[in-house]
Order: sequence, then C-alpha cells, then structure tokens
Amino acid sequence: MRDNPRLEEKPRKDDEPKGQKVRPINNGTVIDHIAGGQALNVLKILGISGATDAMVSVVMNVDSRKLGRKDIVKVEDRELLEEEVNRIALIAPDASINIIRDCKVIEKRKVDLPDEIVGVVRCQNPNCISNTLEPIKSRMLVKVKNPVLLRCLYCEQPLTERIAEYLI
Ligand SMILES: Nc1ncnc2c1ncn2[C@@H]1O[C@H](COP(=O)(O)OP(=O)(O)OP(=O)(O)O)[C@@H](O)[C@H]1O
Ligand SMILES: [Mg+2]
Ligand SMILES: [Zn+2]
Repeated sequence: MRDNPRLEEKPRKDDEPKGQKVRPINNGTVIDHIAGGQALNVLKILGISGATDAMVSVVMNVDSRKLGRKDIVKVEDRELLEEEVNRIALIAPDASINIIRDCKVIEKRKVDLPDEIVGVVRCQNPNCISNTLEPIKSRMLVKVKNPVLLRCLYCEQPLTERIAEYLI
C-alpha cells in the first residue's frame, strides 16, 4: 500500500471499529462494505458453496460508519475477475474490492454494474420469452445502480428486490 500514492491520499479513518476481526491474509481478495446480511449471497455469486476448499472468512453485521451494519468476505489466493466483480454489484452496490498481495492492499476498486447484464439473473415474469425453452438468454437493463433496479429487455418486467433469488 505504501508503494501506491493514490491509496495514501484519503485520511486514514477506519470504517469499522479498531481490531482485526479475522486473521490477515497474505494474498487474495477482501470484499468490504457489503450491506449487512448479504455476505452469503456474495459467496453464492462467487460460486462458493458448502463443498468449497477455498479459504474464506466471513464477517457479518459489524458496525460500519458508512453502512450502519456491514459484512466482509475475505477469499484467500483468489483475485476476482471483472465479471465476478460486476455481479457482486447486483446485491452489494456499495462494495469495495481490495486486492491483497503480501498482506498489503495493492488495489482498491468500487464495484460497478454495466448498463446491461446478460445471462446472470432470471426474469421474474414466468411468461417472458427468456423463461421459455427458447435458447434466449436473459437480458436485463440496469436502470438504477444503487439501489439496484433492473428491467427485462424483452418484457420490461422490473426486478429490484430479492435479486439474489433470481441469480442463474
Ligand atoms: N492482509 C489483510 N488481510 C485481511 N484483510 C485485510 C488485509 N489488509 C487489509 N484488509 C482489509 O481490507 C479492507 C480494506 O483495507 P484498508 O487498509 O484499505 O482499509 P480502509 O482504509 O478502511 O479502506 P476503506 O476506505 O475502503 O474502508 C479492510 O476491511 C481491512 O480490514
Ligand atoms: Mg474501511
Ligand atoms: Zn422478461
């Protein structure tokens, strides 16, 4: 972190109360500023289920000045793909992605949704052409990024709550 002047600019004010909540990781990704209670949905997006052998730490509902309550997910030895980061924005639009190397934050990014997401969330409308046997992928237009509001490109059905339940 010292090596990157951009990360040093902001005043050091910790969002969470002092004290390391989980063991520091050497290399991997910390997904911070997840809305309280959403950590398990973030794991779902990352494809981490009960059967994983990934080293993962999850902290839920800790105090946060920014969010009130937040969750944090730390995944060792994995740096997330752009696409995975974008999917996280669906259910954690305030999340920050911190890449850790040699125990230091070497890169910090906010999640950001693209204008359209293809094949990631199912349309809520059972009669929508994207839900038939036709080989048509779901296409959702991102109308509002935070709080997330999606609209189906085919039938205009909105999707804004419980998005995690509609992940494909
Ligand atoms: N080596 C590490 N192992 C595990 N977690 C780490 C490590 N280094 C940093 N973190 C965690 O990554 C997150 C971001 O770290 P950073 O030092 O940038 O904190 P910050 O200044 O509070 O950042 P922000 O302004 O994004 O809240 C914090 O949740 C921190 O606890
Ligand atoms: Mg912080
Ligand atoms: Zn639809």
